[in-house]
Amino acid sequence: MTTRYDVLIIGAGLGGMSCALELPSSMRILLLSKVALPAGSTCLAQGGLAAAVGPDDSAGLHLADTLAAGGGLTTESTARRIIEYGPRLVERLASWGARLDGAGGEPGGMEGGHSRRRVLHFFDRTGRWISENLTAQCRNRANIHILEGGFAINLIVASREAPALMGAKGDRCLGAYVLKDGEVHTVLAGETVIATGGAGKVYRYTSNDDWATGDGIAMAWRAGLPVRNMEFFQFHPTCLFHPQRRNFLITEAMRGEGAILLNLAGERFMERFEPEALELAPRDRVARAIDSEMKRLGDDHVLLDARSLGRKVLEERFPEVTEGVTALGIYPWDEPIPVVPAAHYCVGGVVAGVDGSTEMEGLRVVGEAASTGLHGANRLGSNSLLEAGVMGIEAAAAMAGSLQGPPEITVKDWYFGRARPLSESILVDHDWAAVRSTMWDYVGIIRSDRRLRRALRIVEVISDEVEEDYWSLLPDMGLLELRNLCTVAGIIIRSALLRRESRGLHYNLDCPETVPPPRDTVVRQER
Ligand code: FUM
Repeated sequence: MTTRYDVLIIGAGLGGMSCALELPSSMRILLLSKVALPAGSTCLAQGGLAAAVGPDDSAGLHLADTLAAGGGLTTESTARRIIEYGPRLVERLASWGARLDGAGGEPGGMEGGHSRRRVLHFFDRTGRWISENLTAQCRNRANIHILEGGFAINLIVASREAPALMGAKGDRCLGAYVLKDGEVHTVLAGETVIATGGAGKVYRYTSNDDWATGDGIAMAWRAGLPVRNMEFFQFHPTCLFHPQRRNFLITEAMRGEGAILLNLAGERFMERFEPEALELAPRDRVARAIDSEMKRLGDDHVLLDARSLGRKVLEERFPEVTEGVTALGIYPWDEPIPVVPAAHYCVGGVVAGVDGSTEMEGLRVVGEAASTGLHGANRLGSNSLLEAGVMGIEAAAAMAGSLQGPPEITVKDWYFGRARPLSESILVDHDWAAVRSTMWDYVGIIRSDRRLRRALRIVEVISDEVEEDYWSLLPDMGLLELRNLCTVAGIIIRSALLRRESRGLHYNLDCPETVPPPRDTVVRQER
């Protein structure tokens, strides 16, 4: 079955929803989410959105902090454009009902690498607050059709489906095949926006939700788009270490308010690693210090001691974390919280402009799935909500002026052939676990050439098996996500092998030095 829209937006976090809301109401939009809304990485963001709105702050200071964190790979003009847009984004969010604390110039929250208190937030539930308000706005718009439980399998591109529609620059995106309740729908659109977020599930331990499987990056890769700097995967220093709750973040804002890190012997080890910035050093350095300390002592976690904040501040300022840990019997005003670093943010992504434009006509990528150059080799905390919101709005502005409506063509429906149902779920489950363990053990915070080469061999074997299943089995969301996960794992490893130095979030024991000049790694699938 074929449906036609002016714009297809794949993913409904801040990037996707701000784009949908900014597009003219005359445009028919399909907003696709593979799970029920509100959801996605935006929804889980605790800390906040960085914007220079305080009286002691400026875009220049915010830019300087962003450049310092980015390890020489931040594109200054891009960063300036996104950062300067920050105050307007904050106003726009307020107009959609998501007013943030700090928006009126009062002090915001503090996070590592920021020289001012500029992290605007809603308690420690910032992302959920934004997601809930934007979802409500989207549901109220007659021109936005929200499809929950719909999964984009692949982009529909002119070179494969309608060569006559190839764009002036080359290939053109015409929409996507969407799986919903076992049926595959052909969705044609004048413009397609990938806003699928990150890929934390590629690692065994992650702060991300189960659906962060890199779907958009994998789809764009299969369509031949360039993918940049994927070796830079940010590990958040403090995820809860608890057998019953594996992906629960303990926000960096707690360290901003005075919480400290201790090893299991009770020593404040950051004094040895970062005597100046201590717990508020950039995340890559804090995560590496924790990793080294755990390895030195043979421990599987460290402690975050927030007792100095007191019960009132913990309950009032950090209700999400406090409720989350007390539900597990940990009382943070009385005892330290066990924490461990976990995969948190995919810094690399599909090469895109601030308006999401890519080298393929009709295709934009916004938010975590994109690489604009803002984050360089290491993302400054809370710059990602900023980037996602600005990109969504800029993408909408660019499309509003140029959209031509859905292509009036007929595209072949999905061909099921002799595909049979997946009868042995263990095949998918085992491969998921194998990829994630391989990535955690060999492509984690500290890497070596030997580990990376071994990881590549393992992931290639699994990818081949999964590819066989993809062609012989009926489309199944678990299998499709695994396919995407394998693709993204392969891209991360290949990118890591290409970088013959250590920089930002990428640390390789076999090439520990930083080698000037800073260079991006760009990879693409040959078609
Ligand atoms: O620690 C945090 O609240 C995370 C913030 C971020 O990743 O931007």
